[in-house]
Amino acid sequence: MIERVQCGSCHVIPGVDWPKGRLGPSLDGMDQQGLVAGTFPNTPQNLAAFIRNAPAVKPGTVMPAMPIDDREARDVAQYLIEESKR
Ligand code: HEC
Repeated sequence: MIERVQCGSCHVIPGVDWPKGRLGPSLDGMDQQGLVAGTFPNTPQNLAAFIRNAPAVKPGTVMPAMPIDDREARDVAQYLIEESKR
C-alpha cells in the first residue's frame, strides 16, 4: 500500500527499502514525535487525516493529498507508529 502510492518517493520510511525520497521528512520515529507536520498533536486520528489529505488539514503544505480512503490512511498511520517502535 505504502509502496503503491509512492510515499517513498518523498519520504524515508522504516521497512521500505526503496525509494528513499528526501523531499519530505523521514517518517522514522513517528511514535516519538509530538507533532504531525509541526502542526497537530500526534494522535493516530490526526496522523491518518494528514496522510490522507494533507492540504485539507494544513493549508500550504507541500505534501499532496493521497489517493487512499479513510481505512487505508488509518492502516498507514498504524504502520508508521508500529514500525517506528522496532
Ligand atoms: C510529493 C511528495 C510527498 C509524497 C508523495 C508524500 N509526502 Fe508526506 N510529506 C511531504 C512533505 C513535503 C511533508 C512536510 C509537510 C509539512 O511539514 O507541511 C510531508 C509530511 C508528512 C508527514 C508528517 C511528518 C512529520 O514529521 O510530522 C507524514 C506522517 C507523511 N508525510 C506521510 C506520508 C505518507 C504515509 C505518504 C504516502 C501515503 C506520503 N507522506 C506521501 C511530501 C510527500
